[in-house]
Amino acid sequence: MRHLINILDLTVEEIAKLIDVADDIMANPDKYSEVCRHKILATLFYEPSTRTRLSFESAMLSLGGNVLGFSEANSSSAAKGESVADTIAMVCGYADIVAMRHPKEGAPIVAAKHSSVPIINAGDGGHYHPTQTLTDLMTIRHEKGRFNGLTIGFCGDLKFGRTVHSLIAAMSRYQNVRFVLISPEELRLPGFVKYEYIEKKGLECIQSRSLEDVIGELDVLYMTRIQKERFVSEDEYFRLKDSYILTAEKMKLAKSDMCVMHPLPRVNEISVAVDDDPRACYFKQAHYGRYIRMALIMKLLGLIKDDVPYEKPDEEEQEIVYGEFTCRNSRCITTTEQELPQAFKLTDKENKIYRCVYCETRRN
Ligand code: CP
Repeated sequence: MRHLINILDLTVEEIAKLIDVADDIMANPDKYSEVCRHKILATLFYEPSTRTRLSFESAMLSLGGNVLGFSEANSSSAAKGESVADTIAMVCGYADIVAMRHPKEGAPIVAAKHSSVPIINAGDGGHYHPTQTLTDLMTIRHEKGRFNGLTIGFCGDLKFGRTVHSLIAAMSRYQNVRFVLISPEELRLPGFVKYEYIEKKGLECIQSRSLEDVIGELDVLYMTRIQKERFVSEDEYFRLKDSYILTAEKMKLAKSDMCVMHPLPRVNEISVAVDDDPRACYFKQAHYGRYIRMALIMKLLGLIKDDVPYEKPDEEEQEIVYGEFTCRNSRCITTTEQELPQAFKLTDKENKIYRCVYCETRRN
């Protein structure tokens, strides 16, 4: 059984096939309207969502299936203190597939360990959001026609922006991709993303504090919201919240075919005047979410005809140590899940760097 916890759980060939299927669903929706008859999707959302939850539910209903779930932790027994492990052990008896969003990083890993049905990570804290990445990749393929050779700029909150982390991981597998990271010092990319997906692979990457200085180089500009809900200090959030605002004036500095993306919701970081620019792709991007999630549900339920065979990538076995270190990330699932052992993987042998198995925070 396959889960989708990290975008790298899917090979590039599988992602290409998912986009093909999503395109076919868009062109021929009737062909797919009964493929999930009698199947049930559970949407377990411990954090707010508009696009991800509703597009998952729309996806399953459009495939002829059914949906159950909750849209806030307080309307579930999590409010009484039930663990993720126990919740999933119950829900996999009620549903055939689960999409879950949780504020704690690594929560979907715990869910997958206790599930007899596929688990889809619909966002875990400031860590990963792989189904947003499928939507993003579908948008890039539609707009640019390729993934190789693109210069992609990420602007805003690169520290807590889980969609950024997943999209960088995904794009790092294509050829000649250049990353341009635009953020204030305080909101730079976390070490695990920079090391694992950029430095270890020797990919080209530049950092800039100014959007105007680099916008002219970009094929894709991925704007992000400053993630208020992840800040410990409200003052810090208010200081940083309007760091970048994409305006019609700034768009004049960009290439005529640059594609502007945003996972949404936006707060103030793209002026509404940009919405009418033909390079603004963010609403299209959100709409693709329904179709790519239809394809993903079909895939994880084994319902894609002639699906590409899964070939596990060759990866060096990582040593895991249990109980030796304690994760210091307050957003890690180890801080709340009962009796979950502390586990760290050796991600960099040369420099003896261990990272938490759940949230990838470096050990003290
Ligand atoms: N892009 C995204 O995850 O949006 P929601 O938070 O509305 O689901």
